[in-house]
Amino acid sequence: MSPTTATLDTAAQASLGTPVPRLEARDKVTGTARYAAEQNPPRRAYGWPVPATIAHGRVTAVDTTAALALPGVLAVLTPYDAPRLGPSDDPTLQLLQDTRVPHRGWYVALAVADTLEGARAAAEAVRVGYEAEPHDVTLREGHPGLYTPEEVNGGYPAHREHGDPDAAFAAAPVRVDVRYSVPPLHNHAMEPHAATADWDAGRGHLTVYDSCQGTTVVRTVLAGLFRLPEDRVTVLAEHVGGGFGSKSTPRPHVVLAVMATRRCGRPVTVALPRQHLAACVGHRAPTLHRVRLGARPDGTLTSLTHEVLTHTSRVREFVEQAAVPGRVMYAVRDSRTTHRVAALDVPTPSWMRAPGETPGMYALESAMDELADALGMDPVELRVRNDPATEPDSGRPFSSRHLVECLREGATRFGWTGHRPPLREGPLLIGSGVAAATYPVYIAPAGARAHARPDGSYLVEVNATDIGTGARTVLSQIAADALGVPLDAVTLSLGNSALPPTPVAGGSAGTASWGWAVHDACTALTDRLARHHGPLPDAGLSASADTTQSAKQKPPYARHAFGAHFAEVQADTVTGEVRVRRLLGVFAAGRILNPRTARSQFIGGMVMGLGMALTEHSGLDPAFGDFAERDLAAYHVPVNADVPAVEAHWIDEHDKHLNPMGGKGIGEIGIVGAAAAIGNAVSRATGRRLRELPLTPDRVLAALSVPDTGPV
Ligand code: MOS
Repeated sequence: MSPTTATLDTAAQASLGTPVPRLEARDKVTGTARYAAEQNPPRRAYGWPVPATIAHGRVTAVDTTAALALPGVLAVLTPYDAPRLGPSDDPTLQLLQDTRVPHRGWYVALAVADTLEGARAAAEAVRVGYEAEPHDVTLREGHPGLYTPEEVNGGYPAHREHGDPDAAFAAAPVRVDVRYSVPPLHNHAMEPHAATADWDAGRGHLTVYDSCQGTTVVRTVLAGLFRLPEDRVTVLAEHVGGGFGSKSTPRPHVVLAVMATRRCGRPVTVALPRQHLAACVGHRAPTLHRVRLGARPDGTLTSLTHEVLTHTSRVREFVEQAAVPGRVMYAVRDSRTTHRVAALDVPTPSWMRAPGETPGMYALESAMDELADALGMDPVELRVRNDPATEPDSGRPFSSRHLVECLREGATRFGWTGHRPPLREGPLLIGSGVAAATYPVYIAPAGARAHARPDGSYLVEVNATDIGTGARTVLSQIAADALGVPLDAVTLSLGNSALPPTPVAGGSAGTASWGWAVHDACTALTDRLARHHGPLPDAGLSASADTTQSAKQKPPYARHAFGAHFAEVQADTVTGEVRVRRLLGVFAAGRILNPRTARSQFIGGMVMGLGMALTEHSGLDPAFGDFAERDLAAYHVPVNADVPAVEAHWIDEHDKHLNPMGGKGIGEIGIVGAAAAIGNAVSRATGRRLRELPLTPDRVLAALSVPDTGPV
């Protein structure tokens, strides 16, 4: 088939909107998909980092004698002799540059050997001397270190206030004033952070296979740190086994791998053991919430205050933006949404799936449920009553907002019957809960290229990273539709920093950002082909696109996805164990481009919310200053036996103010509100309100031992 005629005359079946299976599915299940640590260049060596064993202080000496005497050991890098790095915006990447120890688990050396086992043995043989100082890892109300930052994660203002929320609260006939606590949480992707770095001194070129959420930023940061021109650095990420935000910025492993290959003149893999991750790749910071809601007896909100306390490290300020969803959700004139943060001797927190919205909506949506109880009102109706006409904080119209439709459709599908009494089955108490979800629409500039080959096939190049989301598949669908060709005529090349710059797989913005560039490149190529007469030249025809102009335009709309979760739980009065029986979500997230991969994103988020509600918890041990849960035996993510029937549905939403594909982004909204729906169901089941996550058996039993004092 000649693309000059066939592609334009033959209307190919539209691929977008169809449930195309993942294009790399076979590669993944057969093990032929290669991940960063599985790259095996000749003479590859292995690095194993040495974590600090004090929580605060400094290194006074590093004795490498015993380590270097072990067989196959190539080097031990220490703060005294590691390569001096160039600048980076992220101080957590300034590794082995000084003797300061800002938290337990901070890397203080790197052993390199010709085998993985040799590197680990050498790391254990390194003797580090410390001068320890007292440490403080415990966030609490009234902590003297709390301050109001200038802004919070995502660039939002830390503090927003409208009207007089205190006076409005005092005057409200119905009030709730409640506190919630969300512990530190860890992303724990299936594939731990790993990089294989190869410095070719002859060519002066650095090649790095990195498990990351975007290679453009990794290249930029490595070029800065190692003082190389960007075109001397290539970062590759063909397959990535999850990230959930923990790989959205370069992490220490990749810097150490590059240091080691430059020192040793051999390719070096640094694959972090899972036990290290808790301290060095980021976590969701703990949040302490106080939510005050005032309402009239008919449920109309008259006052909303959401105050968030959180921690950051002494290395870098990262503030979980948990009060931000209160600026979006409900119509209320008098409001305050504010954050304070304390810098403690803790590892640096970072992004974790729906940062801000996830803990923030747990608190806000639990408080809305408590308000519904206080009003004696159906919590669905309470939310419907307070659905705003415009975005409360900004006054801007919504590009589209179908929260009410999500609540209504969810209620019908779930069989929601309003404020019903708990049910009892022997020792089990059964109840249902509801909560809303929201997540912003983000988009960032990206580039892409499209080539038509004389044989009728197409190559589309975009530096997307498929971290397991199905991005490769959906981008191929976008390309096929823009080119007007069948999906199998398109080959997609991704995960390579040599391609035009793109943003990371983060902020639920990957498909929108990369897809826009793919769409534009393919549309431009279609135009070129239409103007071309005769057979294609041997080199084919190409077109490229750069969405810098279009993606940066700020539309006059507030753009957010919305959703509603419904949960049915059982609480065991003998053991205190809570099990989720049913979980159902309905989402309004623009056009759904691939129902199969979208469903995976939604239910994946919901399951992560289930874990947050019931089992996930990283505790900072006050005595030793480290996270107590450092593997998947201690950090309990939901497993198959924990996950009941999970249903994800969506509203067909047509929003013309997003991008050419019409999607809002779906990677994160599934987790937002899920824990609140489960918590609300537990309170309906038990008649007790638990306000500290996770809802573990000890806490549930303790709550049940206290008499039920009426409305919860
Ligand atoms: Mo995601 S937490 O925006 O990488």
